[in-house]
Amino acid sequence: MRAVVTEAYGSPPVLRDVPEPKPGPGELLVRVRASSLNAFDLSVAGGMAKGMMEHRFPVILGRDFAGTVEALGEGAKLFAAGDAVFGVVAKTVLAEGGFAELVTVPEATGVALIPRGMDAVQAGALGVAGLAALASVSAIEPRAGQVVLISGATGGVGSFGVQLATRRGTQVIATARPGEAEDFVRDLGASDVVDYVTGVGLQVRALRPGGVDAVLHFAGDATVLADLIVPGGRLATTLGLGHDQFAGRDLTAVAVMAEPAEPALNGLAAVVAQRLLRVPITRTYALDEVPRAFAEFAGTLGKAAVVIV
Ligand SMILES: NC(=O)c1ccc[n+]([C@@H]2O[C@H](COP(=O)([O-])OP(=O)(O)OC[C@H]3O[C@@H](n4cnc5c(N)ncnc54)[C@H](OP(=O)(O)O)[C@@H]3O)[C@@H](O)[C@H]2O)c1
Repeated sequence: MRAVVTEAYGSPPVLRDVPEPKPGPGELLVRVRASSLNAFDLSVAGGMAKGMMEHRFPVILGRDFAGTVEALGEGAKLFAAGDAVFGVVAKTVLAEGGFAELVTVPEATGVALIPRGMDAVQAGALGVAGLAALASVSAIEPRAGQVVLISGATGGVGSFGVQLATRRGTQVIATARPGEAEDFVRDLGASDVVDYVTGVGLQVRALRPGGVDAVLHFAGDATVLADLIVPGGRLATTLGLGHDQFAGRDLTAVAVMAEPAEPALNGLAAVVAQRLLRVPITRTYALDEVPRAFAEFAGTLGKAAVVIV
């Protein structure tokens, strides 16, 4: 089958013919229809996951997937052949991925049915970024009327985060460059926009002199952002927390991991199917164009989808 792989730590993504995978016990074999790029895929291709996760080269890239169940491994019983499914390739070893014609995934983790009303391309761009955004918004426990600053609002996680935060009744201040990116985040629901290139501090203080109630940190300098939060406020970050990064500050900081648990995937899919949450795909690539998609990832607004068949 065709797949986009990295062949060694730091080796650039290339399209290759690789052996078809076989489902192990408790696994599903999925014929992949669509996937999407995430910052994680760039980290793996760049060799940055070395030492953090076991790699079995060639590593097939792509964490997201959507497609059709083709076969079931021994003992797998939660899904049936022909089911339309999506999710996150939630394996601890880096070997298989969604940038391929077939992928095997454990049926118990990171897989859910695509609901009626949602197409496979949308589903393939939902997993990692949608789950990270959902977990981040939950971590700041936003209440209606509060003000939330979202740094990195233009990216994959941020574009879901803006929508999920505004759906909770909060007022969102989003970071974006002027022009197309600003229009993009306003369209998702941001009520105010600050240009991160010229520095967010003064702009946020001008909008909200007393500070914001919470920050979602998906990019930028977290300590600068923490200075903009009211005493007792909250910060959630997908970039991890350094030891003592916020020591001595009157705020609750949470490092978020996108856990591919099935209830969260189902919840996300349901709100997309009801057209209450949009999968903001702005670029679409065929499988053989994925190496170019990696090169174009910086500067992509929202999600870059990969359509395999
Ligand atoms: N912990 C987890 O489970 C988890 C899950 C998913 C993602 N993540 C992490 O979360 C982060 C965001 O992921 P993503 O997929 O959304 O990445 P992304 O699509 O690259 O989004 C990052 C966005 O931030 C913008 N940006 C760059 N520098 C900025 C700055 N100084 N201030 C404000 N915005 C800035 C970028 O805009 P430009 O295009 O203008 O540069 C881009 O739109 C990544 O670091 C990723 O590794 C973690």
